[in-house]
Order: sequence, then structure tokens, then C-alpha cells
Amino acid sequence: MDIYNNFIDGAWIPARSRGTFENRNPANRDDVIGLFQDSSRDDVEAAVQAAERAYCSWRLVPAPKRAEMLFAAAQIIAARKEAFARDMTREMGKVLDETRGDVQEAIDMTYFMAGEGRRQYGQTVPSELRDKFAMSVRQPLGVCSIITPWNFPMAIPSWKIAPALVCGNTVVFKPATLTPLSAVNFVKVLEEAGIPPGVVNLVTGGPGVGELMTTHESVKVVSFTGSTAVGRVVNQHAASTFKKTHLEMGGKNIIMIMDDAQIELAIEGCLWGGFGTTGQRCTAASRVVVHEQVYDEFLRQFTARASALRVGDGLDDRTQMGPSVSESQLETVMKYVQIGKSEGARLVTGGTRLTSGAHSKGWFHQPTVFGDVEPTMRIAQEEIFGPVVSVMRCGSLDQAIEIGNSVAYGLSASIYTRDINKAFTAMRDMYTGIFYVNAPTIGAEVHLPFGGTKTTGNGHREAGTAALDVFSEWKSIYVDFSGKLQRAQIDT
Ligand code: UN1
Repeated sequence: MDIYNNFIDGAWIPARSRGTFENRNPANRDDVIGLFQDSSRDDVEAAVQAAERAYCSWRLVPAPKRAEMLFAAAQIIAARKEAFARDMTREMGKVLDETRGDVQEAIDMTYFMAGEGRRQYGQTVPSELRDKFAMSVRQPLGVCSIITPWNFPMAIPSWKIAPALVCGNTVVFKPATLTPLSAVNFVKVLEEAGIPPGVVNLVTGGPGVGELMTTHESVKVVSFTGSTAVGRVVNQHAASTFKKTHLEMGGKNIIMIMDDAQIELAIEGCLWGGFGTTGQRCTAASRVVVHEQVYDEFLRQFTARASALRVGDGLDDRTQMGPSVSESQLETVMKYVQIGKSEGARLVTGGTRLTSGAHSKGWFHQPTVFGDVEPTMRIAQEEIFGPVVSVMRCGSLDQAIEIGNSVAYGLSASIYTRDINKAFTAMRDMYTGIFYVNAPTIGAEVHLPFGGTKTTGNGHREAGTAALDVFSEWKSIYVDFSGKLQRAQIDT
């Protein structure tokens, strides 16, 4: 049995308690990937202290030099892409094409942030006084707690760790307990790329680990991606010590299909957006609203295509949709199928767990579509994080937008139309952080801001140069070379 350690102060070491937890393959629960450290507060304490010590010198390493290490890391990940993708499919189930994409996203983000090492631009501005110089520079904050989910096990850690490092911060990293192997793979790469001891520390384990990471006096930034319920707790924990807190939480994203849309294209988008990653993306298209002129045709074809998706082990190239990540996630899916039925939605395909033959050892569920869903039903309001799509009817663009905005979340939305006026209206009026035209709600690229409105986020964005705003703060600097006291706002 493989045993994986924490990484603290440059050393791979077991948890103080010596406790471990198992990581199992969701497509085959007999397949144990390894044992990982079930860490406690002592381990977090050691990691935070190491990060605090390392910060003293890391913040003074020139940003272009820090960036060179990230560049080297991106090259190493690229060389190991296939092995990392296979590890990831084995530990969390999504199909190989998608885990390759996940690793690619980590490569892209790491290269992008390596570029930012030479581009942390500030402002230089004229002073209102003579012989005085004014500018602003970015400065790092210190120790960052990075808490990441299981659905993008390498991409999301890279979205947070690469910008944290290029800005000169140090990191304590807790990955989801369902995907610690991808985290170990990523941290090993950073070590090999020359990131000095203590700059990145990995502590695996459960909520106790996260709690100290969000309350510890020495932690200055908390960046969390996960559910809105846990994000609320993180926010409360971090509040009393005024940590800078970046939260990326739930979604209930919508695809709007107008009567002039290319229906075949829209169906492809709904399949990819709704069932990609087994529906376990914060950006998943879990709602579809269709103009009544094309509703029946859409629903008929979409249902046929959804029910034909091949569900199975993501390591098999023929598989189109993998399992749910865990038993409890599968139970959530089944619970919402019951809720949908009892609310009076029409189950048009799926709705059942798959348990026989090749599915007998995993957490598999049929791709599921509900038709004739009312926008106020729970299946149209609450994040399910599984292969369940709710299809609704609308009579106009205005009504589609109203339905689209009628949820607590605001991550991503999309419209299928050939009418540019409709596209621009929806682009303006959907209150989300991400919007697509003639493409599904998933597929964000690393060089634009990623994040959402309402209860999806707390106003910050990750990815793109927006990520630098999370992991640095501004210092405004005035240099007076007049040789005399000049009083701003007074000596006019
Ligand atoms: C997530 O769902 O948590 O835009 C992240 C996308 C991916 C990232 C998704 N690039 O769907």
C-alpha cells in the first residue's frame, strides 16, 4: 500500500498523530490508491510556522526569479501530463480527456503566472507638488491558506498557488480529502522546480485542518473553493483576524436557447455543459431554458442524446461520463431525483443509480433530464453537483433572463442565438461573473477573471491578472526630492 506524507518545511513527513485516511477509486471501490496523512492542528501549526519563516526570504527573491521557478514547474507538469491525468481519473473519476484538460489548465495557469513575474505593473503618476515623485507597487501579504475542492484537483490549486507564489507569498495548502494524490503530484513538481523549503507546505486531512488554517493569527490570506455552506464558515472563521478572504462557491448556471438558435449546436453544448465532469463543475449547465417554439424538438433530441451517453470507468477511452466522486455525492444526486419527482417535474430520462455489471463497484448514476421544470422548483434552484439537468420553457428573451437571474448564484450563463441583439442584451443583463455566446457555461480560460456574483463569491476573482489582486496589496509611495517640507493639499 502506498503511503503519502505531508510536505512541511521542505520535508515529506507523516502527521504528528500518525493517523491516515484512504483514497479510493470512485469507479471501483476495491481499488485503494493509497493512504494519506490525517493531519491535526499540530501539523497545521508546523506548516504555518515554516511558511512564516520562509516568507522572510521568499518575499525578497525578485519576482522574475520566482517566475522562472514557475516556468520550470509548468514544463515538468507538461512532461508528466498523461501520468497525472491517469492518477486524477483514478482518484476522482472524470474521464481521461477531462483530466488531461485539468492538468493542461494547471500548465496554462503556471505559465501565465510565470509571465506575470515580469509584469506586476503598478502606476507612476504626477504629484500635485513640485519635485515629488508618486507611484504604487504591489506587495505580498505573507502566509496564504489554500483550500481546494476535488472536482479540479490540479487546475484549481494552480489557480491559487501560482499567483500566490509569483507575488511573493508563502503557502499552506489543504486539498480535498478525495483528491490528495493530485495535490501531492503538484507539490512534488514545485519542489523539483526549485521552490525553496517552507514556501509551499502541503497538509492533508479533514475539517480540523481547514479550521486552523482559517483562524491562525499568522495567516494573512485565505483562498477557498468549495460549497457555499462551507465558504460561509470559512468567511466567519477568517473574519475575526481580518484575513483577506477569497471565496469561490456554488453555481446554478443556465443555458438559454432562443427560437433562432442552431439546435444541434445547442444540444452539443447542453450535453457537454450538463454532463461533463458528471455535472460536478461549479460552472455546470444544470439549467436549460428553451423558447417554446423549439422546446419540444430540443427536449426530444437532448433526451435521446443524454440517454445514449456511455457511463463507466473514466480510464476506459470509450466512456463519456464517469461516476460521482463519492457515495455521499451519489446520495445527493438520488435525493434530488426524488425531490424533482415529488415537485411534479417530468423525469424524461435517467433517474436511476447504475449498479450491475461494470457499474457494480462504483458510484454510477444515469444521465438524468427533467422536463417541464418550473423555475421555482428546488431542482431548478439548488446546486446538485451531479448529472441532473432541469429543462424549462420560456416565451421570450426577457423571460429567459428573468428565469436565469432568479437563483441565489451567479457564476456562469450562456445563450444560443443567431440574433446579435439578443446576444448583447443577455450579455448585459445576466448578472453572472462569466457569460458565453453560442457555447456552454463551462470552459473558462486561465487568462481572464474567473468567479461569480451573489452567493457564488465574495467579490474577488481568480485567474487572469485579477488573481494578483487577491494575493498582493497596494503600497503607494511618495518620494519628495525638493529638500523642503511640502504639505499636500495645503501648499497649493
Ligand atoms: C469549477 O467548476 O470549479 O470553466 C472550475 C470551466 C473550467 C473550470 C471549472 N475551466 O468549466
